[in-house]
Amino acid sequence: MEQSKFKLTFSYEVLTTQDGSPSLRLWKDQQPPEAMHHLGGALSESIYIYGAAIEEALKRNSTGPLRVLSVGLGLGYNEFLTALYATLAGREFRILSFESEEALRTHFINWLQRTASDPEQGPFHSIYDSVLAHVARRFDFDPGKLKDLLAHAYVESAWNIEGDLTLHVGETQNSQTTWHCILYDAFSSGATPVLWQEEFLVKFLNRAAAADCVFTTYAATGALRRALTRVGFRAEKKPGFAGKRESTWAVRP
Ligand SMILES: C[S@@+](CC[C@H](N)C(=O)[O-])C[C@H]1O[C@@H](n2cnc3c(N)ncnc32)[C@H](O)[C@@H]1O
Repeated sequence: MEQSKFKLTFSYEVLTTQDGSPSLRLWKDQQPPEAMHHLGGALSESIYIYGAAIEEALKRNSTGPLRVLSVGLGLGYNEFLTALYATLAGREFRILSFESEEALRTHFINWLQRTASDPEQGPFHSIYDSVLAHVARRFDFDPGKLKDLLAHAYVESAWNIEGDLTLHVGETQNSQTTWHCILYDAFSSGATPVLWQEEFLVKFLNRAAAADCVFTTYAATGALRRALTRVGFRAEKKPGFAGKRESTWAVRP
């Protein structure tokens, strides 16, 4: 493995959230640090905000593989949940993930494809092990099988991972494919302002959302709501996780 693939462009701290599942707090480019999840429970938040949308999309699109677009791979909670919910529903799945940090993309795939005899240990491997264990335990699912589901999906290109979303919304973003479910788990607008701008969101949603699409995110902003309405979604306010005031849930009827 090339050394550069392991280079980190950020500092991080591992957090144990209240339900026991891990998260990361990242420091990058002099910006204030930001945790990837609510400290009230990384897994619980992921299930509440994103799992619910995956379940709804499975109900609304009952044939063929479920197509899920995930913004912010991070530690992969939403990718595990997609594989799990689809499999429990007896469905195949396709995932397109975006993650701007090369190290997070590379280490996750390296961990996924690592065999028991491979001595290479990336810096996040024990955290991925813990994420996998927490997700599998919560659903009484075999962790080895869950890991295999994602590993096979990656090898078979049923799961693709791209870099910075802002670089893909222009001309080339998988323009043939639209997505039944969009899990918009980017960092906040302080860290990633473009991702929360109305015009960017309209362009992205027009390109990516299937006719019958479920969109969800932990955040609730005026620009997001306006963008969703402009492209035909019915946006609803949903109480945020663990006492947070609001999150966003939107469907395109
Ligand atoms: C809240 S965390 C995602 C947590 C993740 N969904 C999980 O389940 O662990 C936000 C992620 O978005 C990534 N990110 C930030 N800006 C991005 C961009 N422009 N395009 C793609 N990913 C981005 C960050 O590096 C970070 O990993």
